[in-house]
Amino acid sequence: MEIKKIGVVGAGAMGNGIAQMAAQIGCDVVLRDIKDEFVARGIKNIDRFLSKSVEKGKIDASQKDEIMGRIKGTTEMSDLKNVDFVIEAVIEDLDLKKGVFKELDELCASHVILASNTSSMSLTEIAAATQRPEKVCGMHFFNPVPIMKLVEIIRGYATNDETINITTELAKKMGKITVEVKKDSPGFVVNRIMIPHMLEAIKIVEEGIASIEDVDTAVKAGLNYPMGPFELMDLTGIDICYFVNEYFYKELNKESKWVSPNLLKTMIRANRLGRKTGGGWYDHRK
Ligand SMILES: NC(=O)c1ccc[n+]([C@@H]2O[C@H](COP(=O)([O-])OP(=O)(O)OC[C@H]3O[C@@H](n4cnc5c(N)ncnc54)[C@H](O)[C@@H]3O)[C@@H](O)[C@H]2O)c1
Repeated sequence: MEIKKIGVVGAGAMGNGIAQMAAQIGCDVVLRDIKDEFVARGIKNIDRFLSKSVEKGKIDASQKDEIMGRIKGTTEMSDLKNVDFVIEAVIEDLDLKKGVFKELDELCASHVILASNTSSMSLTEIAAATQRPEKVCGMHFFNPVPIMKLVEIIRGYATNDETINITTELAKKMGKITVEVKKDSPGFVVNRIMIPHMLEAIKIVEEGIASIEDVDTAVKAGLNYPMGPFELMDLTGIDICYFVNEYFYKELNKESKWVSPNLLKTMIRANRLGRKTGGGWYDHRK
């Protein structure tokens, strides 16, 4: 079945980027968040990104208007009733995600694939909240969605080949490179590799070995990474790093390497979550 209309649940950093990608490939999009102001913020972000694309000559103003015209914001879950495919991008909280999937399962037609953008959590458990576990999979985009090329496609225990194939095809249509994660395992591929490097960076600062700035400089100049771990955490959200790591600790045998450093917990307690709160490891108020 052709995918003409896509539902995106959550209009935050990831959800609005995913909605933009879906609209760019010609799909109608229903973008849902819980408050009007969150929906409006998501749509404003898309508008801002596309305005820059017009300035750079990548698209013209009429193309921008067409893309924006395909996106409908809403706070009503019932507006997703007639979509052909759903991508969930609410915050990284397993119970919340399970509740959203249960609701979607009751609402959407039985053939509709329900994909989650979770960074780390079990697709098997999310799928178990539905009556269609074979049609649930992970579709893990990276931040910022319109720029980052990768999408991890993740199998839950019951996910069937058709679901993987359709989801992979959709990601490719969005111009993405896909990898298949064959087993449902915490953090999949990229975050299983990325989180330990963030934790080590925090521990290095905590132990007084080097400053935040110097750790970022060392990683960029010494490993040729485009961003240092602290810059990256500020972009992706320090809370996401924390939630994912807490999940790793719980799921990966409570090994001591996954214990969150005190400094990471302090940042969460201080609500210094990165760019989205105006400050994290660095000040972003300007
Ligand atoms: N930030 C990243 O770099 C990144 C990268 C890849 C994947 N992810 C994953 O994507 C998901 C979203 O992350 P984010 O960074 O966009 O978070 P975010 O905090 O920017 O946005 C989450 C949005 O979900 C909304 N929300 C909460 N409950 C909802 C509900 N029931 N229905 C609809 N909307 C609801 C919130 O109001 C918020 O606007 C998480 O699972 C995260 O782990 C994040």
